[in-house]
Amino acid sequence: MNIIDKIEGLEILDSRSRPTVMARCRLKNGVTGVASVPSGASTGKAEAHELRDGDPGRYQGLGCRQAVKNIEEVISPHCSGKVFTDQAAFDQALLQLDGTPNKSNLGANAILACSIAFARALAAKDNLPLYKYFGRLTDNTHFKLPRPTINLFSGGKHAGGQVEVQDLLIVPVSAITMDDCLRDVNAVFHAATQLISNKYNMRALTADEGGLAPGFKDIRAMFEDALQAIEMAGLRPGKDIALATDVASSHFYGDGKYHIAGQERNAMEMVDLIAGWVSEYPLISVEDGLAEDDWDNWPVLKKNLDGKSLTLGDDLLCTNVNRIQRAIDTQSANALLLKVNQCGTLTEAAQAFLLARENGWHVTVSARSGETEDNWLADLAAGWSGDHIKIGSITQSERLAKYNRLLEMEKFEKMSVRG
Ligand code: PGA
Ligand code: ZN
Repeated sequence: MNIIDKIEGLEILDSRSRPTVMARCRLKNGVTGVASVPSGASTGKAEAHELRDGDPGRYQGLGCRQAVKNIEEVISPHCSGKVFTDQAAFDQALLQLDGTPNKSNLGANAILACSIAFARALAAKDNLPLYKYFGRLTDNTHFKLPRPTINLFSGGKHAGGQVEVQDLLIVPVSAITMDDCLRDVNAVFHAATQLISNKYNMRALTADEGGLAPGFKDIRAMFEDALQAIEMAGLRPGKDIALATDVASSHFYGDGKYHIAGQERNAMEMVDLIAGWVSEYPLISVEDGLAEDDWDNWPVLKKNLDGKSLTLGDDLLCTNVNRIQRAIDTQSANALLLKVNQCGTLTEAAQAFLLARENGWHVTVSARSGETEDNWLADLAAGWSGDHIKIGSITQSERLAKYNRLLEMEKFEKMSVRG
Protein backbone atom coordinates (compact mmCIF):
# COMPACT_ATOMS: atom_id res chain seq x y z
CA MET A 1 0.00 0.00 0.00
CA ASN A 2 1.24 3.47 -0.89
CA ILE A 3 0.69 5.20 2.43
CA ILE A 4 2.61 8.44 2.84
CA ASP A 5 4.42 8.96 6.09
CA LYS A 6 5.79 12.42 5.45
CA ILE A 7 7.18 14.73 2.77
CA GLU A 8 10.05 17.09 3.49
CA GLY A 9 11.42 19.93 1.38
CA LEU A 10 14.80 21.55 1.00
CA GLU A 11 15.94 24.73 -0.72
CA ILE A 12 18.95 23.85 -2.88
CA LEU A 13 20.86 25.74 -5.60
CA ASP A 14 20.59 25.18 -9.34
CA SER A 15 23.30 25.43 -11.98
CA ARG A 16 22.98 29.23 -12.09
CA SER A 17 23.25 29.52 -8.31
CA ARG A 18 19.57 30.27 -7.94
CA PRO A 19 17.49 28.49 -5.33
CA THR A 20 15.24 25.64 -6.35
CA VAL A 21 13.35 22.89 -4.54
CA MET A 22 14.17 19.34 -3.53
CA ALA A 23 11.57 17.07 -1.90
CA ARG A 24 11.84 13.79 -0.05
CA CYS A 25 8.77 11.59 0.14
CA ARG A 26 8.74 8.79 2.72
CA LEU A 27 6.19 6.00 2.63
CA LYS A 28 4.97 4.26 5.80
CA ASN A 29 6.97 1.16 4.87
CA GLY A 30 10.14 3.26 5.11
CA VAL A 31 10.84 3.55 1.36
CA THR A 32 11.81 7.09 0.30
CA GLY A 33 12.03 8.98 -2.98
CA VAL A 34 13.97 12.21 -3.51
CA ALA A 35 13.69 14.63 -6.44
CA SER A 36 14.86 18.12 -7.42
CA VAL A 37 13.21 20.43 -9.92
CA PRO A 38 14.76 22.71 -12.54
CA SER A 39 13.93 26.31 -13.38
CA GLY A 40 13.84 28.34 -16.59
CA ALA A 41 15.03 31.82 -17.60
CA SER A 42 13.48 32.04 -21.03
CA THR A 43 10.03 31.27 -19.66
CA GLY A 44 6.65 31.22 -21.38
CA LYS A 45 3.82 33.38 -20.04
CA ALA A 46 1.49 30.36 -19.72
CA GLU A 47 3.81 28.35 -17.47
CA ALA A 48 2.66 27.19 -14.05
CA HIS A 49 3.71 29.57 -11.29
CA GLU A 50 7.13 29.12 -9.76
CA LEU A 51 6.88 30.36 -6.18
CA ARG A 52 9.68 32.71 -5.09
CA ASP A 53 9.99 34.45 -1.73
CA GLY A 54 10.52 37.96 -3.08
CA ASP A 55 12.78 38.83 -0.14
CA PRO A 56 15.47 41.07 -1.69
CA GLY A 57 17.82 40.24 1.19
CA ARG A 58 18.16 36.60 0.04
CA TYR A 59 19.16 35.45 -3.45
CA GLN A 60 17.82 38.61 -5.11
CA GLY A 61 14.30 37.68 -4.03
CA LEU A 62 14.49 34.23 -5.63
CA GLY A 63 14.50 32.20 -2.41
CA CYS A 64 12.27 29.12 -2.21
CA ARG A 65 11.69 28.98 1.56
CA GLN A 66 7.96 29.48 1.18
CA ALA A 67 7.76 26.64 -1.35
CA VAL A 68 9.60 24.40 1.13
CA LYS A 69 7.27 25.53 3.90
CA ASN A 70 4.29 24.67 1.71
CA ILE A 71 5.66 21.16 1.27
CA GLU A 72 6.25 20.63 4.97
CA GLU A 73 3.34 22.52 6.50
CA VAL A 74 0.57 22.08 3.93
CA ILE A 75 1.25 19.19 1.55
CA SER A 76 2.84 16.79 4.04
CA PRO A 77 0.19 17.07 6.80
CA HIS A 78 -2.55 16.77 4.17
CA CYS A 79 -1.06 13.62 2.61
CA SER A 80 0.34 11.94 5.69
CA GLY A 81 -1.41 8.66 6.56
CA LYS A 82 -3.38 8.66 3.31
CA VAL A 83 -3.30 5.92 0.67
CA PHE A 84 -2.69 7.01 -2.92
CA THR A 85 -3.32 4.20 -5.36
CA ASP A 86 -1.22 5.69 -8.13
CA GLN A 87 0.51 8.80 -9.48
CA ALA A 88 -2.73 10.26 -10.83
CA ALA A 89 -4.40 10.04 -7.41
CA PHE A 90 -1.45 11.73 -5.70
CA ASP A 91 -1.12 14.49 -8.31
CA GLN A 92 -4.88 15.09 -8.18
CA ALA A 93 -4.66 15.58 -4.41
CA LEU A 94 -1.91 18.18 -4.93
CA LEU A 95 -3.98 20.02 -7.54
CA GLN A 96 -7.02 20.09 -5.28
CA LEU A 97 -5.01 21.26 -2.33
CA ASP A 98 -3.53 24.09 -4.39
CA GLY A 99 -6.89 25.05 -5.87
CA THR A 100 -5.61 27.56 -8.46
CA PRO A 101 -5.38 27.14 -12.26
CA ASN A 102 -1.64 27.92 -12.34
CA LYS A 103 -0.44 26.46 -9.00
CA SER A 104 0.24 29.92 -7.61
CA ASN A 105 -0.94 28.96 -4.15
CA LEU A 106 1.53 26.20 -3.26
CA GLY A 107 3.94 26.86 -6.13
CA ALA A 108 4.58 24.62 -9.15
CA ASN A 109 8.14 24.11 -7.87
CA ALA A 110 6.83 22.71 -4.56
CA ILE A 111 4.17 20.60 -6.29
CA LEU A 112 6.45 19.12 -8.96
CA ALA A 113 9.17 18.23 -6.45
CA CYS A 114 6.55 16.26 -4.49
CA SER A 115 5.11 14.67 -7.64
CA ILE A 116 8.50 13.31 -8.73
CA ALA A 117 9.64 12.37 -5.21
CA PHE A 118 6.42 10.33 -4.90
CA ALA A 119 7.19 8.68 -8.28
CA ARG A 120 10.69 7.74 -7.07
CA ALA A 121 9.26 6.31 -3.83
CA LEU A 122 6.73 4.18 -5.72
CA ALA A 123 9.33 2.99 -8.20
CA ALA A 124 11.58 1.98 -5.29
CA LYS A 125 8.70 0.27 -3.50
CA ASP A 126 7.84 -1.75 -6.63
CA ASN A 127 11.53 -2.38 -7.32
CA LEU A 128 11.30 -0.75 -10.75
CA PRO A 129 13.89 1.35 -12.54
CA LEU A 130 12.46 4.85 -12.77
CA TYR A 131 11.99 4.72 -16.56
CA LYS A 132 9.73 1.67 -16.21
CA TYR A 133 7.66 3.44 -13.59
CA PHE A 134 7.36 6.49 -15.88
CA GLY A 135 6.36 4.15 -18.72
CA ARG A 136 3.29 3.16 -16.71
CA LEU A 137 2.05 6.75 -16.82
CA THR A 138 1.78 6.70 -20.62
CA ASP A 139 1.18 2.93 -21.02
CA ASN A 140 4.52 2.55 -22.74
CA THR A 141 6.54 -0.65 -22.56
CA HIS A 142 8.66 -0.30 -25.74
CA PHE A 143 11.42 1.81 -24.29
CA LYS A 144 13.66 3.74 -26.65
CA LEU A 145 16.33 6.33 -26.00
CA PRO A 146 15.61 9.75 -27.51
CA ARG A 147 18.08 11.16 -30.03
CA PRO A 148 19.96 14.02 -28.35
CA THR A 149 19.84 17.60 -29.66
CA ILE A 150 22.78 19.36 -28.10
CA ASN A 151 23.49 23.07 -27.64
CA LEU A 152 26.57 24.11 -29.57
CA PHE A 153 26.08 27.89 -29.68
CA SER A 154 24.01 30.14 -27.45
CA GLY A 155 22.56 33.61 -27.75
CA GLY A 156 19.50 35.45 -26.46
CA LYS A 157 18.61 35.14 -22.79
CA HIS A 158 21.08 32.32 -22.14
CA ALA A 159 24.11 34.31 -23.21
CA GLY A 160 25.01 37.97 -23.67
CA GLY A 161 22.31 38.48 -26.30
CA GLN A 162 25.02 38.95 -28.97
CA VAL A 163 22.59 37.33 -31.39
CA GLU A 164 18.86 37.11 -30.68
CA VAL A 165 18.53 33.42 -31.57
CA GLN A 166 18.81 31.52 -28.28
CA ASP A 167 20.18 28.12 -29.27
CA LEU A 168 21.89 26.51 -32.18
CA LEU A 169 21.86 22.79 -31.55
CA ILE A 170 23.58 19.89 -33.25
CA VAL A 171 21.80 16.60 -33.82
CA PRO A 172 23.88 13.48 -34.45
CA VAL A 173 21.78 11.77 -37.11
CA SER A 174 24.01 9.05 -38.51
CA ALA A 175 25.15 7.60 -35.16
CA ILE A 176 23.23 4.52 -34.18
CA THR A 177 24.11 4.33 -30.49
CA MET A 178 24.06 6.94 -27.71
CA ASP A 179 27.72 6.25 -27.19
CA ASP A 180 28.44 7.22 -30.82
CA CYS A 181 26.06 10.19 -30.66
CA LEU A 182 28.08 11.67 -27.80
CA ARG A 183 31.37 10.84 -29.50
CA ASP A 184 30.31 12.82 -32.58
CA VAL A 185 28.96 15.69 -30.54
CA ASN A 186 32.17 15.88 -28.58
CA ALA A 187 34.20 16.00 -31.81
CA VAL A 188 32.12 18.94 -33.08
CA PHE A 189 32.20 20.74 -29.75
CA HIS A 190 35.94 20.34 -29.56
CA ALA A 191 36.34 21.64 -33.13
CA ALA A 192 34.07 24.58 -32.32
CA THR A 193 36.21 25.58 -29.33
CA GLN A 194 39.26 25.63 -31.63
CA LEU A 195 37.39 27.61 -34.25
CA ILE A 196 36.35 30.17 -31.67
CA SER A 197 39.81 30.50 -30.31
CA ASN A 198 41.20 31.13 -33.82
CA LYS A 199 38.42 33.24 -35.23
CA TYR A 200 37.28 35.27 -32.23
CA ASN A 201 40.50 35.13 -30.26
CA MET A 202 38.70 34.03 -27.13
CA ARG A 203 38.50 31.09 -24.77
CA ALA A 204 35.55 28.77 -24.95
CA LEU A 205 33.39 30.51 -22.35
CA THR A 206 30.00 28.91 -22.06
CA ALA A 207 26.45 30.16 -21.55
CA ASP A 208 23.82 28.92 -19.07
CA GLU A 209 23.26 25.61 -20.83
CA GLY A 210 26.90 25.13 -21.78
CA GLY A 211 26.71 26.43 -25.35
CA LEU A 212 29.61 28.49 -26.72
CA ALA A 213 28.83 32.16 -27.07
CA PRO A 214 31.40 34.17 -29.01
CA GLY A 215 30.56 37.57 -30.49
CA PHE A 216 29.06 36.33 -33.76
CA LYS A 217 28.88 39.08 -36.37
CA ASP A 218 25.32 38.06 -37.14
CA ILE A 219 22.98 35.08 -37.06
CA ARG A 220 24.28 33.67 -40.32
CA ALA A 221 27.79 33.60 -38.85
CA MET A 222 26.46 31.35 -36.09
CA PHE A 223 25.09 28.88 -38.66
CA GLU A 224 28.23 29.08 -40.79
CA ASP A 225 30.50 28.51 -37.79
CA ALA A 226 28.45 25.42 -36.87
CA LEU A 227 28.88 23.99 -40.38
CA GLN A 228 32.58 24.73 -40.26
CA ALA A 229 32.99 23.03 -36.86
CA ILE A 230 31.17 19.93 -38.15
CA GLU A 231 33.53 19.75 -41.14
CA MET A 232 36.59 20.38 -38.99
CA ALA A 233 35.50 17.36 -36.93
CA GLY A 234 35.55 15.25 -40.10
CA LEU A 235 31.76 14.89 -40.17
CA ARG A 236 29.24 15.77 -42.86
CA PRO A 237 26.70 18.55 -42.21
CA GLY A 238 23.21 17.20 -42.74
CA LYS A 239 24.38 13.61 -43.16
CA ASP A 240 26.18 12.96 -39.88
CA ILE A 241 25.19 16.06 -37.95
CA ALA A 242 22.02 18.04 -38.59
CA LEU A 243 21.14 21.37 -36.98
CA ALA A 244 18.23 22.52 -34.86
CA THR A 245 17.47 25.95 -33.45
CA ASP A 246 15.49 27.54 -30.65
CA VAL A 247 14.70 31.00 -31.97
CA ALA A 248 12.88 31.84 -28.69
CA SER A 249 11.24 34.72 -30.51
CA SER A 250 8.80 35.65 -27.74
CA HIS A 251 11.78 37.34 -26.15
CA PHE A 252 12.43 39.82 -28.96
CA TYR A 253 8.81 40.40 -29.93
CA GLY A 254 7.05 43.63 -29.03
CA ASP A 255 4.39 45.93 -30.50
CA GLY A 256 3.54 43.30 -33.10
CA LYS A 257 7.11 43.24 -34.45
CA TYR A 258 10.14 41.00 -34.23
CA HIS A 259 13.18 43.04 -33.26
CA ILE A 260 15.95 40.98 -34.74
CA ALA A 261 19.31 41.69 -36.33
CA GLY A 262 18.85 45.43 -35.98
CA GLN A 263 15.58 45.36 -37.90
CA GLU A 264 11.87 45.34 -37.16
CA ARG A 265 10.18 42.51 -38.98
CA ASN A 266 6.53 41.67 -39.21
CA ALA A 267 5.48 38.02 -38.84
CA MET A 268 5.62 37.32 -42.59
CA GLU A 269 9.14 38.72 -42.78
CA MET A 270 10.09 36.61 -39.77
CA VAL A 271 8.67 33.50 -41.47
CA ASP A 272 10.67 34.37 -44.60
CA LEU A 273 13.84 34.74 -42.56
CA ILE A 274 13.35 31.30 -40.97
CA ALA A 275 12.35 29.66 -44.25
CA GLY A 276 15.59 31.06 -45.70
CA TRP A 277 17.64 29.40 -42.94
CA VAL A 278 15.83 26.12 -43.47
CA SER A 279 16.51 26.13 -47.22
CA GLU A 280 20.16 27.04 -46.76
CA TYR A 281 21.16 24.96 -43.73
CA PRO A 282 20.42 21.36 -42.66
CA LEU A 283 17.90 22.47 -40.01
CA ILE A 284 15.56 19.70 -38.91
CA SER A 285 13.78 21.47 -36.06
CA VAL A 286 12.78 25.09 -35.47
CA GLU A 287 11.56 25.89 -31.96
CA ASP A 288 9.51 29.01 -31.17
CA GLY A 289 10.07 30.55 -34.60
CA LEU A 290 7.27 32.97 -33.72
CA ALA A 291 6.15 34.51 -30.44
CA GLU A 292 3.95 32.73 -27.89
CA ASP A 293 0.91 34.93 -28.57
CA ASP A 294 1.29 35.22 -32.33
CA TRP A 295 -1.29 32.47 -32.91
CA ASP A 296 -2.51 33.95 -36.21
CA ASN A 297 0.85 33.42 -37.89
CA TRP A 298 2.01 30.05 -36.56
CA PRO A 299 -0.02 28.14 -39.21
CA VAL A 300 1.86 30.10 -41.90
CA LEU A 301 5.19 29.22 -40.34
CA LYS A 302 4.22 25.54 -40.13
CA LYS A 303 3.08 25.49 -43.76
CA ASN A 304 6.42 26.93 -44.82
CA LEU A 305 8.41 24.38 -42.83
CA ASP A 306 6.30 21.26 -43.50
CA GLY A 307 8.32 18.45 -45.02
CA LYS A 308 11.59 20.22 -44.28
CA SER A 309 11.75 20.94 -40.57
CA LEU A 310 9.70 20.36 -37.44
CA THR A 311 7.63 23.27 -36.15
CA LEU A 312 8.33 22.91 -32.45
CA GLY A 313 6.42 24.83 -29.77
CA ASP A 314 7.92 25.71 -26.40
CA ASP A 315 6.65 29.06 -25.09
CA LEU A 316 3.74 28.66 -27.51
CA LEU A 317 2.52 25.48 -25.81
CA CYS A 318 3.97 25.55 -22.28
CA THR A 319 3.28 21.78 -21.98
CA ASN A 320 -0.36 22.78 -21.46
CA VAL A 321 -3.07 20.53 -22.93
CA ASN A 322 -5.38 23.42 -23.79
CA ARG A 323 -2.67 25.22 -25.74
CA ILE A 324 -1.56 21.98 -27.43
CA GLN A 325 -5.17 21.28 -28.45
CA ARG A 326 -5.47 24.80 -29.85
CA ALA A 327 -2.27 24.29 -31.84
CA ILE A 328 -3.61 20.97 -33.18
CA ASP A 329 -6.94 22.55 -34.17
CA THR A 330 -5.28 25.50 -35.89
CA GLN A 331 -2.39 23.48 -37.39
CA SER A 332 0.08 25.75 -35.70
CA ALA A 333 2.77 23.19 -34.86
CA ASN A 334 3.65 19.52 -35.23
CA ALA A 335 6.07 19.06 -32.36
CA LEU A 336 5.89 19.55 -28.59
CA LEU A 337 8.76 20.69 -26.42
CA LEU A 338 7.89 18.92 -23.18
CA LYS A 339 9.09 20.58 -19.97
CA VAL A 340 7.52 19.02 -16.92
CA ASN A 341 7.87 22.08 -14.74
CA GLN A 342 5.90 24.17 -17.24
CA CYS A 343 2.77 22.29 -16.15
CA GLY A 344 3.85 21.17 -12.67
CA THR A 345 2.86 17.49 -12.23
CA LEU A 346 3.87 14.23 -13.89
CA THR A 347 0.23 13.41 -14.62
CA GLU A 348 -0.34 16.62 -16.56
CA ALA A 349 2.94 16.15 -18.42
CA ALA A 350 1.84 12.62 -19.38
CA GLN A 351 -1.49 13.99 -20.65
CA ALA A 352 0.34 16.59 -22.74
CA PHE A 353 2.66 13.92 -24.11
CA LEU A 354 -0.23 11.58 -25.02
CA LEU A 355 -2.24 14.35 -26.68
CA ALA A 356 0.76 15.22 -28.84
CA ARG A 357 1.41 11.58 -29.72
CA GLU A 358 -2.24 10.79 -30.51
CA ASN A 359 -2.09 13.56 -33.08
CA GLY A 360 1.05 12.26 -34.71
CA TRP A 361 3.27 14.95 -33.25
CA HIS A 362 6.95 14.65 -32.53
CA VAL A 363 8.03 15.17 -28.89
CA THR A 364 11.29 16.70 -27.65
CA VAL A 365 11.74 16.19 -23.92
CA SER A 366 13.58 19.19 -22.49
CA ALA A 367 15.60 20.28 -19.48
CA ARG A 368 15.68 23.92 -18.32
CA SER A 369 18.49 26.44 -18.25
CA GLY A 370 18.64 26.18 -14.46
CA GLU A 371 19.21 22.50 -13.77
CA THR A 372 20.28 20.28 -10.90
CA GLU A 373 22.33 17.11 -10.70
CA ASP A 374 19.13 15.06 -10.60
CA ASN A 375 18.81 12.79 -13.64
CA TRP A 376 15.09 11.89 -13.66
CA LEU A 377 14.64 13.64 -17.02
CA ALA A 378 16.66 10.92 -18.79
CA ASP A 379 14.39 8.22 -17.34
CA LEU A 380 11.32 10.21 -18.32
CA ALA A 381 12.49 10.60 -21.91
CA ALA A 382 13.30 6.88 -22.15
CA GLY A 383 10.19 5.79 -20.26
CA TRP A 384 7.96 7.69 -22.68
CA SER A 385 10.20 7.06 -25.70
CA GLY A 386 10.46 10.73 -26.62
CA ASP A 387 11.84 11.42 -30.10
CA HIS A 388 14.48 13.94 -29.08
CA ILE A 389 15.95 15.14 -25.81
CA LYS A 390 17.30 18.64 -25.24
CA ILE A 391 19.50 18.88 -22.18
CA GLY A 392 22.09 21.49 -23.11
CA SER A 393 25.73 21.02 -23.89
CA ILE A 394 28.16 18.32 -22.83
CA THR A 395 30.36 20.33 -20.51
CA GLN A 396 28.52 20.73 -17.22
CA SER A 397 27.63 18.10 -14.67
CA GLU A 398 23.99 19.10 -14.30
CA ARG A 399 23.68 18.24 -18.04
CA LEU A 400 26.02 15.23 -17.96
CA ALA A 401 24.07 13.63 -15.12
CA LYS A 402 21.33 13.10 -17.74
CA TYR A 403 23.59 12.17 -20.68
CA ASN A 404 25.43 9.68 -18.49
CA ARG A 405 22.13 8.17 -17.38
CA LEU A 406 21.20 7.72 -21.07
CA LEU A 407 24.52 5.89 -21.57
CA GLU A 408 23.76 3.76 -18.53
CA MET A 409 20.33 2.78 -19.87
CA GLU A 410 21.87 1.98 -23.26
CA LYS A 411 24.33 -0.44 -21.71
CA PHE A 412 22.56 -1.93 -18.71
CA GLU A 413 18.94 -1.78 -19.85
CA LYS A 414 19.82 -2.65 -23.46
CA MET A 415 17.91 0.29 -24.90
CA SER A 416 18.51 1.53 -28.41
CA VAL A 417 18.34 5.07 -29.75
CA ARG A 418 15.30 6.08 -31.79
CA GLY A 419 15.85 6.04 -35.53
P1 PGA B 1 14.66 28.12 -20.19
O1 PGA B 1 14.90 27.99 -21.74
O2 PGA B 1 14.84 26.83 -19.52
O3 PGA B 1 15.63 29.18 -19.78
O4 PGA B 1 13.25 28.65 -20.03
C1 PGA B 1 14.93 26.82 -22.44
C2 PGA B 1 14.22 26.97 -23.75
O5 PGA B 1 13.75 28.08 -24.09
O6 PGA B 1 14.04 25.98 -24.45
ZN1 ZN C 1 12.72 27.22 -25.98
